[in-house]
Amino acid sequence: MIEKLALPLLHMMDAEKAHTLTMAGLKSGLVTGKAPKHDQALAVSLFGRMFPNPVGLAAGFDKNGESADAMLGYEFGFVEIGTVTPKPQIGNPKPRVFRDKKSHSVINRMGFPNGGADDFEHNYTAFRKNGKNNTGIVGINVGKNKDQDDALSDYVDLVHRFGKQADYLTVNISSPNTPGLRDLQDPAELLPFLRQLVIVRNARCKTPLLVKLAPDLTEDQCKAIADCVMEAGIDGLILTNTTLARSDHLPEAFRNEMGGLSGPLLQDQSLNVIRSFYKHTKGELPIIGAGGINSAESAYAAIKAGASLVQLYTALVYHGPKLPRKINKGLVKLLKSDGYSSITEAIGKE
Ligand SMILES: Cc1cc2nc3c(=O)[nH]c(=O)nc-3n(C[C@H](O)[C@H](O)[C@H](O)COP(=O)(O)O)c2cc1C
Repeated sequence: MIEKLALPLLHMMDAEKAHTLTMAGLKSGLVTGKAPKHDQALAVSLFGRMFPNPVGLAAGFDKNGESADAMLGYEFGFVEIGTVTPKPQIGNPKPRVFRDKKSHSVINRMGFPNGGADDFEHNYTAFRKNGKNNTGIVGINVGKNKDQDDALSDYVDLVHRFGKQADYLTVNISSPNTPGLRDLQDPAELLPFLRQLVIVRNARCKTPLLVKLAPDLTEDQCKAIADCVMEAGIDGLILTNTTLARSDHLPEAFRNEMGGLSGPLLQDQSLNVIRSFYKHTKGELPIIGAGGINSAESAYAAIKAGASLVQLYTALVYHGPKLPRKINKGLVKLLKSDGYSSITEAIGKE
């Protein structure tokens, strides 16, 4: 009920102010419930863990690791926090988040505003110690500071620092709002870069190391990157981040905002990238699908295209926190109607 009233009010506010207010509510602990029992058919065994359901919260919603406890209580099967950078930074000038209500899209050019690794570690440690849902699965998404020219050293720093604490680590090289970041996806740079990170991880722990990629990749780039990640020994992929592409149907003022677009208009692009990587890795590398997921049908489409798990962010803005629950219920029905007894049977069965 409260959510039903809150959503229209939040939509009347500037997008980032609405988010700050939402975070204050989540951080307060007042709305934090205990994660419910999940339907057994939705469980996914991956990375040595049992994910209670395949619907996760995507990175960027909680850059400082303050709301994992509350979000796990809203029936997310896992939560990814970050992107965290080693030093605190303020990000790009505001306004930097824009909504198009008609298409349910968001464009953001946040530029990784966050409190830095010390602050993040403090919040994360408190969650693991005191959280109601502190045994839930939480991934940590890492990035580089804007003023750092030696990208590798920031990633090495964070993989070393959070390797032992996270359930999985995501190397984010696909945000469009940090100059030069996406260049790390260039296969010539990518292989030595990832090899180095795998060495640092191996020396420290066995935590799965994932890489998050952009949707704006050609088929040839997908093939070359797939070869790199397999050769480097990466454990999984998150497909995808936001896109630089714009549909002609979007209102002109919105379309012309710089940054990454997310929401339903991103879905087809993300699905194509998931399909491509699933094919090039012969289904051997786990994929977490993200991009425009807002219903059981769209989550199921990503799973059938080859994703083992999915994540969402933008749909929360438009549908509120009951959405993961609704998607999980719908997935159970879709599985039944296809004659599957478990979600894992549907992976890649397009
Ligand atoms: C406001 C906003 C901030 C984001 N920040 C991050 C981030 O810090 N790190 C990251 O890896 N992805 C970030 N993302 C991308 C999402 O994690 C996700 O990959 C993308 O939005 C596609 O999913 P969606 O259509 O469900 O939103 C951000 C997305 C939005 C809308």
